[in-house]
Amino acid sequence: MSDNNAANRCPVVHFDHNSQEHSANPADSYRQLRESTPVAWSEAHEGYWILSDYQSVFDAARDDGTFTSQRTPSGGEGLAVVIPKTPMHMHIPIELDPPEFRKYRKIINPITAPAATANMENMIKKYVTWFVDEIIELGEGDISTTIGVPALVTVDWLGLPVEGWHKYAFVHHQALTGVPGSDDYKRAMEVVMPEISQEMRLIIADRRRDPQDDAISALVQQEIDGELIDLEDVFSIVELLLAGGTGTTSSLVSQTVVWLYQNQEVRQDLTNNPEKLDKAIEEFLRFFSPTQGLARTVTEDVEFHGCPMQKEDRVLLAWASANRDEKAFPEADEIDIERWPNRHMAFGVGVHRCAGSHLGRAMVKEMLSQILTRMPGYVVDLDNIVPYPHQGTNTGFKSIPISFMPGKRLGPKLNNIAAISTR
Ligand code: HEM
Repeated sequence: MSDNNAANRCPVVHFDHNSQEHSANPADSYRQLRESTPVAWSEAHEGYWILSDYQSVFDAARDDGTFTSQRTPSGGEGLAVVIPKTPMHMHIPIELDPPEFRKYRKIINPITAPAATANMENMIKKYVTWFVDEIIELGEGDISTTIGVPALVTVDWLGLPVEGWHKYAFVHHQALTGVPGSDDYKRAMEVVMPEISQEMRLIIADRRRDPQDDAISALVQQEIDGELIDLEDVFSIVELLLAGGTGTTSSLVSQTVVWLYQNQEVRQDLTNNPEKLDKAIEEFLRFFSPTQGLARTVTEDVEFHGCPMQKEDRVLLAWASANRDEKAFPEADEIDIERWPNRHMAFGVGVHRCAGSHLGRAMVKEMLSQILTRMPGYVVDLDNIVPYPHQGTNTGFKSIPISFMPGKRLGPKLNNIAAISTR
């Protein structure tokens, strides 16, 4: 086990990415750390290192030998890539290291590749249209409801029942943005999670017997080491795809919508010139970094960027902070929608770089496009926006009241979301 004696650490800081103090202004909090102690040790959460400049995050993310993503006893039970560990089933392949990792990533790549994502454009469009239709005639609403889009798209793409999409969204939002110990968090983990886990296992087994045209069916037919993949491993992959797909994309859209309201010239520019959206989305990814930081565990005693790390030490790779490092991005605290090149780390770096980046970008683009064109003059009630209760892993808003000029529906009025499912 690692030696948590602060005297053996250099430098020791008072920092906790899950604290209210940090949540009040994560960018400021990370800036102070990055500029004074880019590799630092905190005693919070039984002790962990925080890497906050571009170079240290980049170096650690590319060195799986020293910084493992696998579960180890350090830091207790649960998801190894977050601090503190969330009590969840093992996620594959994010909690595996090469060479084992590659066997699984290889079977995920085809279902998340650009060609596969291009086939989902129609589905994405339908769901975004449905969400916008729900409020377009009213002239007001909570635009954060569009955060349902990524959950719905992911659930439909996987082949899970779309009428139950909100259960999946609820559990995965709570896991990443809820407050451990709160009523919602407990309900998500203790009641809804077991319920959806059982549903997922039944569907996974069913697809092996009777494949359909969905991502779960594609996964259950794959082989690992020459044998049909274990269904429990498929479950671990599906859970990760849900976790990856739901929170991150909505976090980005929620923050971008608020920022564009506060920066009307840019909003007008993007409305008039939609061809600028692709580059702008990369800049929003850099600036807002929906996944603020993820964790690794040190595999052997090592000196890293001048600091003595010990086997089993936990380490936070702060993507969000690296993305604001002036050494990598001139005027890093400004949004420049034309910034190029833009080598941000919002999707991570190294072998675990996001498998869903193409899908994430496609969903963000469709959501922003429809919000900009169908609600062109939207006004955000800034006094009543509600941020996620803590911003340690995912930043964003859980409520964004807006008003706008009422518009026309594009689709029929539906009582049941399953009616627009693509299957
Ligand atoms: C804006 C949207 C997104 C952001 C900011 C984001 C961010 C990230 C980051 C930072 C990682 C690196 C993990 C690590 O190094 O430990 C990652 C991995 C991953 N993401 Fe995303 N993600 C997004 C969307 C998605 C979507 C839509 C999906 C799935 C449908 C997805 C699935 C995954 C998976 C499966 C991994 C693990 C890859 C591996 O271990 O090889 N992500 N994501």
